[in-house]
Amino acid sequence: MLNVPTDLPENVRLTDSLHYTNYLVDGHLKEWKGAKAEVRSNILMDENGNPILLGTVPDMDSEAALEALESAVNAFDRGRGAWPTMKVKERIACMEVFAERMIPHREEVVKLLMWEIGKTKSDSYKEFDRTVLYIKDTIEAYKKLDRRSARFDNEDGIWAHIRRSPLGVVLCLGPYNYPLNETFCLLIPALIMGNTAVFKPAKIGILLITPLLQAFADSFPPGVVNVVFGRGRKIAAPIMRTGKIDVLALIGHSSSAVALQDEHPYKNRLRLILGLEANNPAIILPSADMDQAVKECISGSLSFNGQRCTALKVIFVHESIAEEFNARFSKAVDELTYGLPWEDGVFLTPLPEKDKPEYIQSLVSDAKDKGAQVLNTKGGQMSKNYCYPAVLYPVTTEMRVYSEEQFGPVIPIIPFKDIEEPLDAIAASEYGQQVSLFGKETDNIGPLIDILANLVCRINLNSACQRGPDVYPFTGRKNSAVGTLSVFDALRSFSIRTFVATKDSEENKALLNNLTQGDDSNFMSTEYLL
Ligand code: G3H
Repeated sequence: MLNVPTDLPENVRLTDSLHYTNYLVDGHLKEWKGAKAEVRSNILMDENGNPILLGTVPDMDSEAALEALESAVNAFDRGRGAWPTMKVKERIACMEVFAERMIPHREEVVKLLMWEIGKTKSDSYKEFDRTVLYIKDTIEAYKKLDRRSARFDNEDGIWAHIRRSPLGVVLCLGPYNYPLNETFCLLIPALIMGNTAVFKPAKIGILLITPLLQAFADSFPPGVVNVVFGRGRKIAAPIMRTGKIDVLALIGHSSSAVALQDEHPYKNRLRLILGLEANNPAIILPSADMDQAVKECISGSLSFNGQRCTALKVIFVHESIAEEFNARFSKAVDELTYGLPWEDGVFLTPLPEKDKPEYIQSLVSDAKDKGAQVLNTKGGQMSKNYCYPAVLYPVTTEMRVYSEEQFGPVIPIIPFKDIEEPLDAIAASEYGQQVSLFGKETDNIGPLIDILANLVCRINLNSACQRGPDVYPFTGRKNSAVGTLSVFDALRSFSIRTFVATKDSEENKALLNNLTQGDDSNFMSTEYLL
């Protein structure tokens, strides 16, 4: 039985531990009879001071992982499977069924998002709703893409019918900070383009996926989507070692991506679609609107406690306005409300990783030892599952917080005299995802945009960094990403341009006409999907 307070709001109360024993393979929920892994929530402690037990999930082994892989390989069937050869409109119909089957699980998934990763109630609802919208937008984007392909080209006497085909079998791994949304932003486009997939949920945020397994099983042909549970090195590494994975789709850390890539025996055949870590800076110019800069830097650095790849991880502030910015920013940080995810108005919430508060505090201590001050009164205050955001100033290159992606509540501020200083730092960084630039004067901002556009992939003017809206390209340079993931770009990333070509002759034209008008080929189609 659970040992949680009984006075919790009804919509978040857990009546019993959730012992999930299935995994999805070959279209069936199969019972796992082996070892189980505990799922604990760091947001509340039990009577022994440990994160409370929420339930258990399968702790699968390599044999079961390979069974799931075989199921995906068989469903693709070397390009002959029902799914990769299906008409586009039929694949879309399956995806529509899945979206409909997912919606009734909203409350359950949102509740588990709050318990498992500590995301606020409003952000948890946003994550669910954004994911459903992403599926619907993906369907519309695919119809549009398909409509553009419903034609023939004729160049140099060659007729061509050009479309996009799937790549094969995808291993899909998502992160704990968006365990639903970011994983589905990989899985959904991968599936709809005709690939088959093995999907392993993140290390935290696992139970929230379980209500959706039956919906997967009911919506797609057997083997198209397979869901396994367990540690990456125990189940993802053996899958990669077979060489049967065509696409590694991962949102997480580059170290995991590189380790998995290294397991694959045929690297040239492996397509990578990766969203990785980042170290997004804000640059506050003397002309910045101070209210706006403070507000955006708060949401940019501390939404979901800074546990976002797009979070502002360092703030460069011009020395002429540093004093005012620091005072106002520190005050704003201390005014943020901390509480449990379901409490109204909370902004800061417990950290889901057990060791994270200590790690954050170690970054603070290291910076203090090397000359930084904690500017805000509450900065660095520790509890069992939290370390209150510390505003550190002045941060220098020797401090760990300068080079380590904190992925948590600590904000380093660096003063600069010359704009070359932040520009040099960004150019030297291992990362190149986004930047936030605060200022008003076009003669300053214009030339900076021209340089920053070659160092990062999104320049946010007077606004925090963020991924959305999902129709915009989400990508990065250097260690921050491989491939691009907007709704539209993801369809391209998970497919390859493929075409049927023939020389211009009466016989061949008749053949093309017959192929598109008849029902003998699903690939050859000039049907307009509306
Ligand atoms: O963890 C990185 C996410 O892609 C961030 O997305 O900017 O919508 O929070 P977001």
